[in-house]
Amino acid sequence: MGIRRAEVHTEWHESSGAVKGLFRLGDAAENLRALLPEYAGRIKLVYMDPPFMTGDRFYMRVRVGAEQWRRGKGGMAIEAFQDRLSREAYLSMLREVLSLCRELLSDDGMIFVHIDYRAHPHVRLLMDELFGEDNLLNEIIWVYQTGGRSVRHFSRKHDVILFYRKGPEYDFNIDAVKAVPVKPRTNHMRRHVDPDGRVYRSVRVGGRVYTYYDDEPVAPSDVWQDLSHLQQKDPERTGYDAQKPLALLDRIVRCASRKGDWVLDPFAGSGTALEAAKRLGRNFIGIDKCPLTVNILRRRLAGADYRIECEAEPPRQAPVCEVSVCPGVGFYHIRLERFDVDLTGMPEGEALDAVDNWSAGYMKPEGYRVMAEFARSRREPQLLRELAVPAYAGELAICVSDVTGRSFYYALER
Ligand SMILES: C[S@@+](CC[C@H](N)C(=O)[O-])C[C@H]1O[C@@H](n2cnc3c(N)ncnc32)[C@H](O)[C@@H]1O
Repeated sequence: MGIRRAEVHTEWHESSGAVKGLFRLGDAAENLRALLPEYAGRIKLVYMDPPFMTGDRFYMRVRVGAEQWRRGKGGMAIEAFQDRLSREAYLSMLREVLSLCRELLSDDGMIFVHIDYRAHPHVRLLMDELFGEDNLLNEIIWVYQTGGRSVRHFSRKHDVILFYRKGPEYDFNIDAVKAVPVKPRTNHMRRHVDPDGRVYRSVRVGGRVYTYYDDEPVAPSDVWQDLSHLQQKDPERTGYDAQKPLALLDRIVRCASRKGDWVLDPFAGSGTALEAAKRLGRNFIGIDKCPLTVNILRRRLAGADYRIECEAEPPRQAPVCEVSVCPGVGFYHIRLERFDVDLTGMPEGEALDAVDNWSAGYMKPEGYRVMAEFARSRREPQLLRELAVPAYAGELAICVSDVTGRSFYYALER
């Protein structure tokens, strides 16, 4: 059996799920422009969490080999992205991205732009100019408690999320995000218990009595203090520095889209918005220029019907890899024997330690179609060496992805 490098630009993942998705690896503006012919006026919700003009570099902690996965510790910190554009370059990039997002939004669509105190005043003015001051719905303050405390000024413990509509007929659904408050409102109110045993509070204002039941769902205000940021050891953590919590995106996706709508995140990072959309039955489109994100997305998007489009240069380094194909009862069993990658900084280990995830499937005219896949996890740290693929006519293929986010595709010549 021979093995031949294949230049793949589209990787298809199919499942029986109803959700459709697309992820494009590359520059936000460039890829948004490419989406216009098919998606202009069709996106219900844009969420974006661009860099914040911090001047910093951001990393991803990747686990190398079974031992690090098992312990959930150690690993290499690989640079994911730099947030070092000048203010001028940053705002010019954002202007282009926001204008394209506006074109992609449906007339009843909405956009949430997540920033912090540094970018906020500049982005607010930019949004007012592009979307119109009258279309600002909220300046949401997301308050969290994680991180250290400053002694030189008050600790900075909030982000700002600017929420605009595209036009007056927007489809906002507050009922979808009402929740029973953790602490009931007690201030200056009398406590009562009704004949059914339900606790309520009452207050008299201007001759009228207002009552509030403790177990009644309440809509959040524009100050969100009930959604915690990811903790150091949070099981949700993917290792991606700027990852946001799923609960935050769950609230945004619920109130600003409905099942079957399209949700777009042009700075998708670890894919939190895409996972929230998938879980809530929304279709999704994500873009990011960091290749490391693809390895995270293959884990987070499992169960959706999605494709990854990779405009990046195909990797040049040819790994050594042996694959045996045994036709079974209606299946091919594909075994991964070796995959050697020269990674600076990687500890000496087993030959397959550099493999983060791999899959097997078929080469099709539209790209590489994944039929079986495996990604290491804390539960399954050891690389599964064999994948079974239904025996169809067509060219068998595999994709092996290393811990740095490079994906190598091969067609298997039988
Ligand atoms: C703050 S992070 C997003 C984090 C994400 N919300 C999450 O939960 O993981 C910003 C992302 O923007 C990406 N990025 C920065 N400039 C970009 C550009 N011009 N085009 C595409 N992606 C870009 C970075 O690679 C990074 O992943």
